[in-house]
Amino acid sequence: MTAADPLAPATLGPVSLRNRVIKSATFEGATPDGLVTPRLIEYHTAVGRGGAGMTTVAFLAVSPEGRIQRGQIHWQPAALPGLRRLTEAVHGTGARISAQIGHAGPLANSRSTGSPSLAPSRRFNPLSLSFDRTASRADLQRVVDAHARAAIAARDVGFDAVEVHLGHTYLAGAFLSPKLNRRRDEFGGSPARRADFPRRILAAVKRAVGDDVAVLAKLNMADGVRGGFWLDESIPFARTLQADGHLDALELTGGSSLLNPMYLFRGDVPLRAMAGALPPWVRPGIRLFGRRFFRHYPYEPLYFRDHALRFRRELSMPLILLGGVTDLDGMRTAMRDGFDYVAMARALLREPDLINRLRRDPAARSLCTHGNLCAASIFTGTHCPLDADGTAALVRAGTRPVGAP
Ligand SMILES: Cc1cc2nc3c(=O)[nH]c(=O)nc-3n(C[C@H](O)[C@H](O)[C@H](O)COP(=O)(O)O)c2cc1C
Repeated sequence: MTAADPLAPATLGPVSLRNRVIKSATFEGATPDGLVTPRLIEYHTAVGRGGAGMTTVAFLAVSPEGRIQRGQIHWQPAALPGLRRLTEAVHGTGARISAQIGHAGPLANSRSTGSPSLAPSRRFNPLSLSFDRTASRADLQRVVDAHARAAIAARDVGFDAVEVHLGHTYLAGAFLSPKLNRRRDEFGGSPARRADFPRRILAAVKRAVGDDVAVLAKLNMADGVRGGFWLDESIPFARTLQADGHLDALELTGGSSLLNPMYLFRGDVPLRAMAGALPPWVRPGIRLFGRRFFRHYPYEPLYFRDHALRFRRELSMPLILLGGVTDLDGMRTAMRDGFDYVAMARALLREPDLINRLRRDPAARSLCTHGNLCAASIFTGTHCPLDADGTAALVRAGTRPVGAP
């Protein structure tokens, strides 16, 4: 069988795409009041104009306490008209648009959100200098229902897909992790019990939206943390998700924003800049112990490929390869390996029009240097500091920096 052309039209569940390239979620830092701004619209229309098949709006929390900090959108009625303007603007570029929905769980800064953060098990939260609340059964049912409502709202304002965040040890990912989930009830203990809450979320989302939109999940193959969720559990979990049949594709990721963030991205660790993105009370600790928290993982192209190939061998469902996809060679390798789509984050932050450039020049190379300064900018307006033109475009869109939490 010949491999698919990554830049040719394709379908993703019920959605037709102009190509197989998905801009993966990169929290935009462009919603200081939790509402869509011109900057957010410019951020995603730039990706659409630049040729990607679909862009993903990062982390639209399913409930107020599910935000990481208050400058994030949650699915409240006041946010809906702006989200509709956003989806219409992206559709005007010929691209599709996906909503990443989820609950931040132990990543939430309750000082900023004003509500206690939820976690599978009690744990000290350095962001808020308080203990996370152990999620009760009622909390979990509420969060499951909130996912379903968020998916319906996403469909109703014109999103083509919803991507449920099961990765990076947000709430659902934290339930999967034996390190973070030490519960003794039906949601903790064995891998099957830890999987129950994420499975309920996906079932509720699928029940809510059926085939009206594509339903995706972003799943950790490995947390990158000793005692965490690794392939011995994530592959059987993915097989269960495949059998449940609620997903149109699975996006394969890794790392823990809570315990090992650099495992997600790889590349340079701009420690001072990263510390500056965190609340002031966390910064001295990061300056002292930051090298242990922000561990260095050398960047390589397609850095999740080896893990992802093990998923590819075990599963027949559509899979999205993520991590270090920056050029046509990488995309073609992914297609030859049998992946159905590729997802790209930093390369499209650096150059939102990279896909059009690859069409014109198949040998083109990304200008992204994996310096990860973009990751340090997430609460003040995510951008690539190397991209003078892109930054200027956002400033022209009439935006102001978002205050840190
Ligand atoms: C600035 C920045 C913000 C990110 N925000 C999110 C996010 O909100 N949700 C998410 O699932 N992943 C987030 N990620 C991770 C990316 O989606 C992606 O998984 C990671 O960067 C690896 O892809 P890449 O090698 O193409 O950059 C973020 C990454 C960056 C660089």
